[in-house]
Amino acid sequence: MSDQPTYGPDVQAYIDRAKILLAERAAVLARARTMKFDTLAVHGLYTVEEALRLNQGAIIEPVYFSTSQAYRDAAELEAALAYLIPTWCYTRIANPTTTYLEETLALLEGYGTGLDTSCCVTASGLAAIVLATDPFVIRPEGGSQRVNFVSSIQVYGGTFQHFSVRLMGERGVECRWVLQPSDIGEWAARVDEDTRFLFMEAPSNPQQSFADLKALAGLAHRWEIPLIVDATCATPALMRPLAHGADIVVQSLTKSATMGGSAVAGALVSRKPIVTKLGRDNPLFREDFAQYVKLYPYRDSGAAPSPLNAFLVSNDLRTLRSKMDLVSLNCQKVAEFLRTHPRVYQVDYLGLPDHPLHGIAGTHMKLVDSDDGTGNEVNRYGHLMGFRVDGPPENARKVFDRFRMIYRATDLGRIKSVATIPAISTHQQQGEEARRLADIPPQLIRLCVGAEHPDDVMADLDQALAAL
Ligand SMILES: Cc1ncc(COP(=O)(O)O)c(C=O)c1O
Repeated sequence: MSDQPTYGPDVQAYIDRAKILLAERAAVLARARTMKFDTLAVHGLYTVEEALRLNQGAIIEPVYFSTSQAYRDAAELEAALAYLIPTWCYTRIANPTTTYLEETLALLEGYGTGLDTSCCVTASGLAAIVLATDPFVIRPEGGSQRVNFVSSIQVYGGTFQHFSVRLMGERGVECRWVLQPSDIGEWAARVDEDTRFLFMEAPSNPQQSFADLKALAGLAHRWEIPLIVDATCATPALMRPLAHGADIVVQSLTKSATMGGSAVAGALVSRKPIVTKLGRDNPLFREDFAQYVKLYPYRDSGAAPSPLNAFLVSNDLRTLRSKMDLVSLNCQKVAEFLRTHPRVYQVDYLGLPDHPLHGIAGTHMKLVDSDDGTGNEVNRYGHLMGFRVDGPPENARKVFDRFRMIYRATDLGRIKSVATIPAISTHQQQGEEARRLADIPPQLIRLCVGAEHPDDVMADLDQALAAL
């Protein structure tokens, strides 16, 4: 006897009706695919037709604060809860405002690639990282029970904690750290048949490490595993890892995507299909990973963002490209200024021509839809940089304490310039040895340059450095 549920004609009627809605959606998507990055960021898949038909003409996507969706009858409820029709159901599972954002991000990360993509927006960037990685290591299938994954050690402190304490310490999943992420040979030496994924943060926070993503994806795919990239510091305006072969991208939307600094949120976007050996019991796992996450682990872990946060992100995201252009140019100027400052012994910024990873970063980080006059996109390297202050660690603290305009905060990606000392903040918990391996000395000040006039940022830095 089959244990497949059978549905009555009343449920089937709802399924047939949904097919019409899905066809309409596919037409909107096809139209969107012909549009430019800025247009997609501004509109997503929300159209004039939808505004007039469903939302009293509201030109801005409405915020659905409701916890749940009402159904016409038992048949529609059954069809919805069996995921047979498009539904949002309950805000922990989905919400229309969050869906608008998911559709937009899927388009932006897939922009110019010709790939079919999907997205799951989460309550934070870290939630997106957990949901992007956990499904690969907690599934018992796939042969050996000895499971490992390979990650750059130059990752955000929270990611480091999740990988080393939660996955490795508590669950016995081996994390194999790569100390020089630009060295593809080191990655290759760490992978074996029990490896479930490769994880790279590019550019990394705070060190600015980088790698040839195409080569990394090639390595991953030779082992039939996915490459997962945290591209928070680049944003899709400067780099789309899926275009370089990555399978899954994670973003802390809390950062430059929501430059105004009003919301915490994250996203994972995947290509369809991803490369993986897993997922034999559920085709969606491979065919549409972000949707798989959305329907199952996300639903069951309570990682949903508030609809208000999804709305705040959507609103900030509309002007992402032009903002990333401006703050990258500002950061470039500030980095060049610090590079010649007598009190600074090292500046970590990929935009500096003498940075060892400048060349490889330049092949990835380009302002989307820009033109340098010869038909090529211009390079932009984002607004996160680091600088290392001469002398003992106290010197870095002294400079830090003297900032007048630059905010001291464990934050980045802001429209306002913000600085921190990673060794005593974002990367404090991982301890001295792990910081040494990850190249985070106490002399390092991380600076994220905002949209102020760069002369004022430099003046603030100059007066602070004059304290030494
Ligand atoms: C590169 C990177 N990824 C992920 C995160 C985590 O994001 P969230 O704070 O939104 O959880 C951060 C936070 O600083 C980050 O810098």
